[in-house]
Amino acid sequence: MYRTHTCGELRLSNAGETVTLSGWIQASRDLGGMTFIDLRDRYGITQLVFNMEDEPVLCQQARKMGREFVIQVTGVVRERTSKNPNRPTGDIEIVASELKTLNASKVPPFTIEDETDGGEELRMKYRYLDIRRTPVKDKLIFRAKVALETRKFLSGEGFVEVETPNLIKSTPEGARDFVVPSRVNAGQFYALPQSPQTFKQILMVAGMDRYFQIVKCFRDEDLRADRQPEFTQIDCEMAFVTREDVLNVFEALTRHLFSTILSIDLGAFPRMSYDDAMSRYGSDKPDVRFGMEFVEFNDLAKGKGFSVFEDAELVVGILVPGQAETYSNKMLNDLTEWVKRPQIGAKGLVNIKFSVDGSVKSSVGKYYSEEELKQWGQRAGANPNDMLLILSGETDRVRKQLNELRLEMGTRLGLRDAKVYKPLWVLDFPLLEWIEESQRFHAMHHPFTSPKTADIDRMLDGDHETMKNLRADAYDLVINGVEIGGGSIRIHDRALQEKNFKLLGFTPEQAESQFGFLLGAFEFGAPPHGGIAFGFDRLCAMMKGETSIRDFIAFPKNNMGRDMMIDAPSTIDDIQLKELSLTLRKKE
Ligand code: AMO
Repeated sequence: MYRTHTCGELRLSNAGETVTLSGWIQASRDLGGMTFIDLRDRYGITQLVFNMEDEPVLCQQARKMGREFVIQVTGVVRERTSKNPNRPTGDIEIVASELKTLNASKVPPFTIEDETDGGEELRMKYRYLDIRRTPVKDKLIFRAKVALETRKFLSGEGFVEVETPNLIKSTPEGARDFVVPSRVNAGQFYALPQSPQTFKQILMVAGMDRYFQIVKCFRDEDLRADRQPEFTQIDCEMAFVTREDVLNVFEALTRHLFSTILSIDLGAFPRMSYDDAMSRYGSDKPDVRFGMEFVEFNDLAKGKGFSVFEDAELVVGILVPGQAETYSNKMLNDLTEWVKRPQIGAKGLVNIKFSVDGSVKSSVGKYYSEEELKQWGQRAGANPNDMLLILSGETDRVRKQLNELRLEMGTRLGLRDAKVYKPLWVLDFPLLEWIEESQRFHAMHHPFTSPKTADIDRMLDGDHETMKNLRADAYDLVINGVEIGGGSIRIHDRALQEKNFKLLGFTPEQAESQFGFLLGAFEFGAPPHGGIAFGFDRLCAMMKGETSIRDFIAFPKNNMGRDMMIDAPSTIDDIQLKELSLTLRKKE
């Protein structure tokens, strides 16, 4: 038997018992006649004591052991004289009487402590050492809990977990596919699923009624802190539902996860249309933990001779509370430089300060009288010591820029508390998005999303502007400014789906060759249906108040899409290439 207890288990009530523990050496200290070892496993850390007087051989042996050695120790549990209140096992220690090395360890390349000196790449290369660290280990355990509670909840609601294939034909979700060559079908390729979208719809046609899957998805896109090339979705689909039914079930799932795992009551979820989100926050995933909503000033700004505002399609600002006295000219200059960086791309930043003494100062003071500037303040609801920050330009662009500025000011003022959770449904997304590069409309969500009933008739008959204004029965769940999930009511009628493909620039032949199976299925009694997918990694990170999803994934990839531990991707040998009917082009 390797152990009678784990390293996180023993308490004062065990005093006097003889126990055996196994684990890794976290740290050891020699204090003359005594040697102390902190022994760690997944469950915690227990202090071991080796006494030179009573057990000299054992004590010598213990002193030779380094960090991360795997050992087995037997001894008696004793109450500690100096207790460690920060550890659940901190009241006791084990007085060792037997010691065995189960395996030695090289000196680890970084410290295996809560705060480590290891850089990200090194930690990824030695991920097995990184996972020994409590913060990483705890995130994986947390993830498992969220998965378990998700399964419990959805199963309780009648959802059936069905696995869909990983070797499929491309599903267009807007990113590039990872492809896998087929050996037995020379020159042909599978694609790894960007999501199980078409399969879950087929399951509805098949009568499964309520489907879910905690499923790996693969997207070959640029990586960021909240994006990995392979990530996990809680993917769901329901038959005979309206938008309301889907929102209710997934609001209840989210509430269940927060209440059972974090003991947090999220309350009711507010809703906002896409158009409102864009005009009030400049983002389709607004962080509504704080105010600073957009205020538009076109009517007050124009006709006073300030050419920047005269030429602008939109003059829009945010009211920053209580900062007029704090923000010096230097700080405002720095902020102007900040919005001018290429990542934001604003041309300049106008400010109006409403002083405590009632006076108004502005960087555009020579174009507007104090009375006029006070009107701007009234519109924004300014109080003494508030400050307006204003950008101007082309509508879509300036809204995006002001969104960045609003988030930055929210962060600077400490208004984005990771322990506060504010969910929001964003509804009625546009059906189509014009992409300059390809000079055609693309589906904003995906091509299977239904237009809103009122817009179906206008779908093919409208001009460019009408097409831009078509609305989809699509929705996103946003929490604290993070897009947690997205879904839609689907098209379930062949003729309408064909119409949508046509709108997206597919010829009938292309639609048939790529999606004939789905169009065909729609001819055999497809029920009305809809669904949603949550980004599981993002949900876990957000629940824990973190922005990076990496440590919620056991073996993540780096920014170049590389797995540093197994060193993938890698080349394959000529025999394998030949078997797959592939030839590599020689580098020029
Ligand atoms: P969508 O593309 O919006 O919808 O994806 C759903 C959710 O998945 C998460 N997500 C990601 N997480 C980590 N890394 C990535 N690269 C990544 N890409 C997306 C996001 C996102 O909200 N089939 C549809 C769902 C449906 O219509 O039912 C779909 O995949 O949190």
